Amino acid sequence: MRTVRVALVGFGNVGQALADLLDQRADVLYQQYHLDVSVTGIATARHGTIIAPDGVDLARTVAAIEDDPAATLPGALTGAIAIPAFIATVPADIIVELSPLAPESGQPAIRHCETALRNGKHVVTANKGPVAYGYRRLRDLALSQHRQFRFESAVMDGAPIFALVEKALPATKVRGFRGVVNSTSNLVLTMMTAGQTLAEAVAEAQRRGVAEADPSYDLDGWDATVKVCALMNALMDADVRPADIERTGIGDITADDLRAATAAGTAIKLVAEAWEARDGTPHGRVVPRALPLADPLATLAGTSNMLILRTDTMGDLAIGEYDGGTPQTAYGVLADILHIADSE
Ligand SMILES: NC(=O)c1ccc[n+]([C@@H]2O[C@H](COP(=O)([O-])OP(=O)(O)OC[C@H]3O[C@@H](n4cnc5c(N)ncnc54)[C@H](OP(=O)(O)O)[C@@H]3O)[C@@H](O)[C@H]2O)c1
Repeated sequence: MRTVRVALVGFGNVGQALADLLDQRADVLYQQYHLDVSVTGIATARHGTIIAPDGVDLARTVAAIEDDPAATLPGALTGAIAIPAFIATVPADIIVELSPLAPESGQPAIRHCETALRNGKHVVTANKGPVAYGYRRLRDLALSQHRQFRFESAVMDGAPIFALVEKALPATKVRGFRGVVNSTSNLVLTMMTAGQTLAEAVAEAQRRGVAEADPSYDLDGWDATVKVCALMNALMDADVRPADIERTGIGDITADDLRAATAAGTAIKLVAEAWEARDGTPHGRVVPRALPLADPLATLAGTSNMLILRTDTMGDLAIGEYDGGTPQTAYGVLADILHIADSE
C-alpha cells in the first residue's frame, strides 16, 4: 500500500467535508488504488495548527469543531506557527489550499501555493484566487519543480471541467464559454422568484456552506468574475485578471424584476461568459440576463450550475452540476489528489 501525505491549509466547510469524504472513501481508496491518503497537518487562522506525521484523527477533529465551532483543534500545537512555515515544514506530499477567496488579490493563497511548490510539494486548491491571479506563474513554477498545480474545485465545485479539457479533449481549443457558475446568486434568484426575501436566500446559502465568507462577493458578481478569469486563463490560455472582466452583480434585481421576467416567459440568471474577438483577443463578462426558458441555463434552479464550452472540435459541450455544495467541492479536491497519486 502507498501512502499519500496531505496537509490542509484551511479547515472550514470544504476542509471538514474533505475530512468526512476521506474517512468515508478510505476502503474504496485502499481496494481500488492500494492508497492511503493520510492528513498529516491542518493549519487554520483561528483554530490552531496540527502537525501529525502519523496522520490526524479526522473524525475526532471534525467532531470537535461540530461540538464547538470556536474550539481549538484537538492536538493543536501550543506555540504559533506562521502558515508559510507550516507549508514548508509539514511532512506532506501535497498541500491542499482551502483558505477563503480574496477576490481583489488572490492572496494569501497565491503565496501559500508558491511556498508549497518551491518546497517540492504538489498543490491542490479549491480557491479560485490563485488561478485567476497567478495561473501562469504557478503553472510555470509547478513545471519547473516537476510538481503539479491542480484546481478542479475552483469552478463548479467538483464538476470535472479542467480534467475534461486536459484529459478528455486532446487537440481541442476552447474558444469561449457561457454558464451559470455562482451557486449563491442562483439560489438567491431562485428563492426570490419563489417569493422569499434576499436575506432569507442568503441565510439559506450560508446554511448550505456555499456562500463566500462575505456573501456580497457572490451577489456583486465577484465570485463569478474570478471564476471567469480562472476559466479563461486555464482553458483559453488567456492572461486576464478580474479587473479586465465586465462585471454586473444581482444586487439591483428586485422581486418585481423577477416577477416581470417570469410573466414574459424568461428567467433572470447571472451569466458568466467569455469569447474571442475577431483578432483572437479573449474577453469576459458577468451580467444578469433574462433568458428564454428554452435556454438550458434558464432551467438551473437553486445551487445548480452549468458551463457550456465552445470548442473547435466538439462544438458546444455542456457540463452541468445539479444541487452542488461542499461534498462535491471536497470530491473535486479528492479527484485532484488521486490524479497526482496516479501520476507518481
Ligand atoms: N464552500 C464551497 O462549497 C466552495 C466551493 C468551491 C470553492 N470553494 C473555495 O474553497 C475555499 C474554502 O472554502 P470554505 O467554504 O471551506 O471556507 P471557510 O469555511 O471560510 O474556511 C476557511 C478556512 O481557512 C482558514 N483561513 C482563513 N484565513 C486564512 C489564512 N490567511 N491562512 C490560512 N488559513 C486561513 C479558516 O481558519 P479558521 O477556521 O480559523 O477561521 C478556515 O479554516 C475558498 O477559497 C472557497 O472559495 C468553496
